[in-house]
Amino acid sequence: MSSSASNVAALLRAGSQTLDGAGSETPRLDAELLLGHVLGVGRATLLAEGDSVVSAGQQETFQRLIERRASGVPVAYLRGLKEFYGLALSVDERALIPRPETETLVGLALDRIAARLTDAPRPADARPLLVWDVGTGSGAICVALAVECRRRGYAGDVAFQASDHSSDALAVATENAVAHGVADAIEFAQADLTDIPGAERADLLVANLPYVPTYVVPTLPVAASFEPRVALDGGADGLAIIRRLLAQLPHAVADDGLALLEIGADQGDPLGAAAGRLLPGWALTIHDDLAGRPRVAELTRDQGA
Ligand SMILES: C[S@@+](CC[C@H](N)C(=O)[O-])C[C@H]1O[C@@H](n2cnc3c(N)ncnc32)[C@H](O)[C@@H]1O
Repeated sequence: MSSSASNVAALLRAGSQTLDGAGSETPRLDAELLLGHVLGVGRATLLAEGDSVVSAGQQETFQRLIERRASGVPVAYLRGLKEFYGLALSVDERALIPRPETETLVGLALDRIAARLTDAPRPADARPLLVWDVGTGSGAICVALAVECRRRGYAGDVAFQASDHSSDALAVATENAVAHGVADAIEFAQADLTDIPGAERADLLVANLPYVPTYVVPTLPVAASFEPRVALDGGADGLAIIRRLLAQLPHAVADDGLALLEIGADQGDPLGAAAGRLLPGWALTIHDDLAGRPRVAELTRDQGA
C-alpha cells in the first residue's frame, strides 16, 4: 500500500488494491470496514467523506490492519466485532465468527417462540419456556433471541440456557450477553452437548454445531484458519457431532418441544437418514436459507413417540 495516500478515498483505493492482490474475495468492503474502524465512523460517513484528510497515525494503524488482513486474519477479528441479527457482537479468536446464514435459524426460533406464547392462552402460573442453545460459541443465537424476546415483551415468559464445551467460547458469549443487557436471562454452562446433570428439558433446542467435513476444513478460505478448529470440524462426513446430538434429543427436548439445527447446504439427505434411524417417530422439516439452500433441520417429536 502506498505511504503517500493521505485522504479517505486514496487510502481506500490503495487498501483495496493490496487486499485484491492478496486474494481477498471482498477487498473494497474489507478496506472500508477497516478504515471505518480506525476512524470510528460508519461506511456511509466514510464514503461521503472521500476528501477528508487522515492523520499519519491513523494511516499507520490502517496500514497495519491491511497487512494483517492481507495475511488472512478475518476482518471481524481485526475490528473485534461482527454484526449479527442487527447486533454488534464482540468476536475474537476464542469463538467462531457468526455467519449471516445462521440468522435463518434465529428467525425460525423466534417464530416458534411467538407461536408457543400467543397461539393459545397461557395459564398465569405457566413456567417460562426454556430455550437451550447448544454450542453457543460467541452467544450469537442465544443473545439475539434474548434481545428480541425482551424487545417483544416476552422477557418473563422465556428463559435461556447456553452451553458449549469451550470455556473460551463461553467467556465471549457471556461478554456479549452482558454488553446487550441480557445476561440475567441466560444461564451459561460448560458441557459436552446436552450433558448437564439434572438439566431441565428444553421447549426449544437450537444448535449450530460444527458441520464441515474434516477433509474440507483445510480447503476453507484462509480466514477460517484463524477460527477455533473445534467450531468448524464436524468429523469425517461433517455430521458426527450433530448425529450425537440427535441421539440425545429425546432426553433433552420436552415432550411437546422441538429442535432447530443448522446444517450444511448439502446435508439435508444424510441428516434425514440419520434422524430416521436415531429418532423414530419424529417429524423432520428442512428449511432453506435466504439463498434458497437447505439450512435448518426442524425436528418435532410426535406426541407419544
Ligand atoms: C459452528 S460453531 C457455532 C457457534 C455459534 N452457535 C454460532 O452460531 O455462531 C460451533 C460451536 O459448537 C461448539 N462445540 C463443538 N463441539 C461441541 C460439543 N461436543 N459440545 C458442546 N459444544 C460443542 C464449539 O466450541 C463452537 O463454539
